[in-house]
Amino acid sequence: MRWRAVKAGVRGFRLTAGAYLNAMNNQSPRIIVRRSGPLSGNVQVPGAKNSVLKLMAASLLAEGEYVFTNVPAIADVDTMSDLLTALGVKSKWLGPHELSLTNSGNISTEAPFENVDKIRASINVLGPLLTHYGQALINWPGGDDFGGRPIDLHISGLQKMGATIEQNLLNINAYAKELRGAEIELSFASVGATENILTAAIYAKGTTVIDNAAREPEIGDLCNMLVAMGAQIEGIGTSRLMIHGSKKGSLRGVRHAVINDRVQAATYIAAVAIAGGDVQVRGARPEHMEMVINKYTQMGVSIYPQRDGLRVMAPERLSATDFATLPYPGIATDYKPLLVAMNSVSNGVGIVTENLFPGRFRYIEELCKLGADIRIDGHHAVIKGVDHLIGAAVTAPDIRAGAALVVAGLAAHGETVISEIHHIDRGYDDLVGRLSGLGADVTRV
Ligand code: EPU
Repeated sequence: MRWRAVKAGVRGFRLTAGAYLNAMNNQSPRIIVRRSGPLSGNVQVPGAKNSVLKLMAASLLAEGEYVFTNVPAIADVDTMSDLLTALGVKSKWLGPHELSLTNSGNISTEAPFENVDKIRASINVLGPLLTHYGQALINWPGGDDFGGRPIDLHISGLQKMGATIEQNLLNINAYAKELRGAEIELSFASVGATENILTAAIYAKGTTVIDNAAREPEIGDLCNMLVAMGAQIEGIGTSRLMIHGSKKGSLRGVRHAVINDRVQAATYIAAVAIAGGDVQVRGARPEHMEMVINKYTQMGVSIYPQRDGLRVMAPERLSATDFATLPYPGIATDYKPLLVAMNSVSNGVGIVTENLFPGRFRYIEELCKLGADIRIDGHHAVIKGVDHLIGAAVTAPDIRAGAALVVAGLAAHGETVISEIHHIDRGYDDLVGRLSGLGADVTRV
């Protein structure tokens, strides 16, 4: 398999000597994609990474058993399980997508470095630990590298609620005998800051108001679970959340179904758009994806809401489009690599502006190895559509960019070999199996 990939690269004059040696020596798992399409059949959208991780962290808020259904089989869930286990929460799989967490009250407030360092969502244990146990010691969280990812808004919000927070180069030590409700206006609608302040407010004395709160559907999912646990939250789904503090001991464990993943849904739509075909994307929630569906439609993709998801039909050729990333309900930065890959093979020129993470363009270099014509200027990318891409050896720089390279490979002549796929495994539940099920020529070696 490896040799075929190398031969394909040499045939297309795509592999440099360094890439050739890398491909020969590198024994870590890779994904190999060949030009595919038209795709057909149906694909089920799994549960959302950016929901389940936060729901799991919320189990630190109250004793009892939590049963999560529709849990995606992804590496980040295992990392969050390990972190919670280290803190004293017992975790057990009840089925392939059903996870039980039991909080019996014996909780440590010191999060181990090795667990926190692997994922950004590890910072979500800060709010629950602080509000319930009065203390949290945690190092700076890891996660995808998009350049700077500060947590100053989390910290200033918690300070406004009365927490003392000491920071040094290694970690954050937060403590408070009791948090008190506060009016907090976020200068940016940060997902993580909204979630940490929201969970910290659950046992704060009085009412906490978060203005300019992030409105991502995953935050709505977290609020709904907190309400089922016994919390009092108003304004769910809006940019003004009002949380009335509850008494410790008044919340309980619950059973909760994780919402479906809008980014994975968008990935399968992009795959059809690029490879051609007619596919049912089951479990896609159009009400969570309005803006991105509009963009896909502008590019020529036909998308029809159905009883359980979306029917997606590709045009003969995509049309280029401009877009800018914004917090929800705008076009999420997580969709951007997919839309850039689509623009790469569209008719015309598209200009993309990244407003959330200015450094989130590392995959562009990889797309260019496939023959894409893209120029970066500050936080803008100018993409001139080409007729087709050509297979090459590329590296997944992060979760969503890795998936976009797989999708781009569907439109590339020859073989595309994607390495560093542990990034993709962090957030995609069987991307290869799901794409193969639609008839794509994708394998994992
Ligand atoms: N920001 C600050 N200060 C803060 C917090 C954020 O300046 O205290 C800035 C960030 O630097 C960034 C912007 O605000 O420029 C947005 O950051 P946000 O806090 O909203 O993002 P996050 O919570 O770190 C989550 C997702 C990301 C997703 C972003 C934006 C999780 C675990 N991660 O990150 O998802 O891109 O929201 O929607 O929920 C992914 O799933 O692949 C992923 C990277």
